[in-house]
Amino acid sequence: MNGLKIVGLGHFVPENVYTNDEISKNIETDDEWIRTRTGIEERRFVGNDETNYSLAVKAADMAIKNAGVSKDDISYIITCTFSADFPVPSIACMVQSELEIGDSCTCFDINAACSGFLYGLHTVRGLLLQEKDKNKYGLVIGSEVISRHLDMNDRETCILFGDGAGAAVVKLEENYLYEFTSGSKGNYEVLHVGALNEDKQYVGMKGKDVFKFAVTTIPKCINNVLNESNLSIDDIDYVVCHQANKRIIEAVMTKYKQPAEKFPMNIMKYGNTSAASIPIMLSEMNEKGMFKKGQKVILVGFGAGLTWAANLIEI
Ligand code: UT7
Repeated sequence: MNGLKIVGLGHFVPENVYTNDEISKNIETDDEWIRTRTGIEERRFVGNDETNYSLAVKAADMAIKNAGVSKDDISYIITCTFSADFPVPSIACMVQSELEIGDSCTCFDINAACSGFLYGLHTVRGLLLQEKDKNKYGLVIGSEVISRHLDMNDRETCILFGDGAGAAVVKLEENYLYEFTSGSKGNYEVLHVGALNEDKQYVGMKGKDVFKFAVTTIPKCINNVLNESNLSIDDIDYVVCHQANKRIIEAVMTKYKQPAEKFPMNIMKYGNTSAASIPIMLSEMNEKGMFKKGQKVILVGFGAGLTWAANLIEI
């Protein structure tokens, strides 16, 4: 099978750190509540001179350098985001412009909320399979500036999210493992950003409903890709979950009776960065030297829509 090989990873988070104590200044909450209910200790928010595309550019630049590929060989840039700076041009086109990538590259954004990066990987694989030249690369970016969509007086949402970007340069690889599962529910109520006739585009969420959805959907996704590949969870080296809540990830870990090392987390430092959370995690794991050739990794996420997905990839 033609699998999808990640050949380079990068990430970027804004410098501005907001601790739980800072977030708690204006609302009735505290560090202890946020840590125990979510695992989050701090998050990053963009400064005035930063944009969604400036984060995306830095993450993409790092991924391309890490891959060591020529920009001329990048055929697709897909940015996964719900928080673009403007409707058009796409963040992907802004990345193309800033990084001076040639005009034979096709660029567009997709929005599948927190599942976005996983949809992006699957989309680029489909596109690369159609290319005559199988040595072309795809650049998939998850980039979010969620701080612009937070009502800092709503303690049920403003504590959870952060800004950041992660990116992966990928190519097709013959005889590589690859499986994908996805779906969506067509749901607005449980999790959305913005509403008709409202000026402010704030996150609105029924937290408990999202939590229940996550802890049932993640195992279904994992089981789907395991069944399709005739593998068991013991054959998997890492399960990289969307970083939404430490308790959600721990519930999945416990269900499969797996060690914590298999379910890496960085939600403590960044909060939930939506489509950026999985590529940021992957890039940090890469920097720490956690990947070895032949490892099998499941990427799994869920988000507004309600959407869900998992990709099983080989390193
Ligand atoms: O990418 C997907 C995005 N979203 C998610 O993944 C969210 C998933 N859900 C969650 O992470 C959790 O449901 C939350 C962290 C949002 C909430 O945790 P919970 O354990 O489900 O709390 P809860 O909503 O059941 O609220 C428990 C209590 C309530 O008070 P009462 O009714 O028991 O008096 C809330 O009003 O905690 C209160 N509460 C807070 N207290 C202090 C809610 N938010 C806060 C807060 N600080 N920030």
